[in-house]
Amino acid sequence: MNDELPRPPRRKRYSGKNPRHFEDKYKEHDPARHAETVAKVIASGKTPAGSHVPILVDECLEALALSPGITGVDATLGYGGHALRILQVITPGGKLIGLDQDPIEVPKTEQRLRQAGFGADAFEAVRSNYAGIAKVLTERGLGGVDFVFADLGCSSMQFDDPARGFSFKHAGPLDMRMNPQRGLSAAEWLARITPEKLAFVLHDHADEPRAESLANALAGKTFRNTMELAQAVRAAVRADEEVLDLTVRRVFQAIRIAVNEEFVALDAFLRVLPDCLRPGGCAAILTFHSGEDRRVKKAFQAGLRDGIFREISDGVITASPEERRMNPRSSSAKLRWARACE
Ligand SMILES: C[S@@+](CC[C@H](N)C(=O)[O-])C[C@H]1O[C@@H](n2cnc3c(N)ncnc32)[C@H](O)[C@@H]1O
Repeated sequence: MNDELPRPPRRKRYSGKNPRHFEDKYKEHDPARHAETVAKVIASGKTPAGSHVPILVDECLEALALSPGITGVDATLGYGGHALRILQVITPGGKLIGLDQDPIEVPKTEQRLRQAGFGADAFEAVRSNYAGIAKVLTERGLGGVDFVFADLGCSSMQFDDPARGFSFKHAGPLDMRMNPQRGLSAAEWLARITPEKLAFVLHDHADEPRAESLANALAGKTFRNTMELAQAVRAAVRADEEVLDLTVRRVFQAIRIAVNEEFVALDAFLRVLPDCLRPGGCAAILTFHSGEDRRVKKAFQAGLRDGIFREISDGVITASPEERRMNPRSSSAKLRWARACE
C-alpha cells in the first residue's frame, strides 16, 4: 500500500521576466500580493491580466454629481473600478447597486469591494442584464435613484482572457459571450447565419467596408477557435498588414455585438432610463464606438426635447492625452451625461 500523501500541484512556471500567456501572469492576477508588479504594468500603458483600468473616472464622478448619502446604480460593474470610487464618495449613508451580466466576474468583484470595506448596507451586486434595470429597482422597492452610470462594452478581463473567446491574438474557443450561460456562442452563431444577415451586421455594427465579400467567406462556416476565424478573415481580404489587422478587429467587434445583442440591450436600457431617475437625478454613459454613442446621443437629445431631462452634456467628454498614453483603451471613450428635471 502506498500511504504517501498526494503531492500538492506545482505552481506553473514561466521562463523569463515577461510571461506571454494570460494564465501565467500570476503576479498580475494577485494584485493584493504583488502591487509593485501591477503598478509597473499599468505605468507601461498595459492592463494587468485579470483586471480592468477604469476610464475617465474623475469626469464620470463629476458628471454624476455625487455626494454622501445618495443612492444609485452602476449598470456595468465589471472589475468595480468606477464602483469603488463612487462608493468612496457616497458613503457613509449612500448605497450602490452594481449590475453585470457576467457570472464569472461578478462574484470576484463583489468580494473585492467587500474586502475594500463596503458591506451589504453600502453595496449590492446583482447579476442582471442592464436592460432589466427597472425590474431590479422595483424588486428593491425603489421608485428611482439619484444616479445611473454605465461604461459600455466588454471589460479587459473578458477581452484579455483567451478562454472567453474575444481575443484575436491568442487561440481560444470562439465564444465571445459576456454571459456564457445564455444564447449562442460566436461559433454557433456564425455557423447558422446567412451571408445577407452577416453582411448587415458587419456593416451596421463595425462600418466594415468589405462587408459583402467577408460575409460570403464567413457565413455558415464552422470555426473551431478564434485564430481560425482571424485567419479566415485575413485570407478573404487582399490588403497590407495594417488593413488586415483593422479588418480582423472590426469583424470580431461586429460579431461580439451581435452575439451579446448589445444594441438590443442598450436600446431597452435607454428607453427605461428616465423612469429610473429621481427628480434631478443624473445619468452618465461611457461609449466606445459610433453605434453606441449615436444611440446615447439620440436618447439624451430626445429626453431634453421632451422635457424629461433638464440639461445634457454639450458634446462629448474624452480622455486627456496623458490618460490615452497610460491606458490606450481610453482613446475611443466618449462620455455623455443627462440630468433629469426636478
Ligand atoms: C467596460 S466594462 C465596465 C468596467 C467597470 N466600469 C470598471 O471600472 O471595472 C463593461 C462591463 O459591462 C458588462 N455588460 C456589458 N453589457 C451588459 C449588459 N447588457 N448588462 C449588464 N452588464 C453588461 C460587461 O460584462 C462588463 O463587465
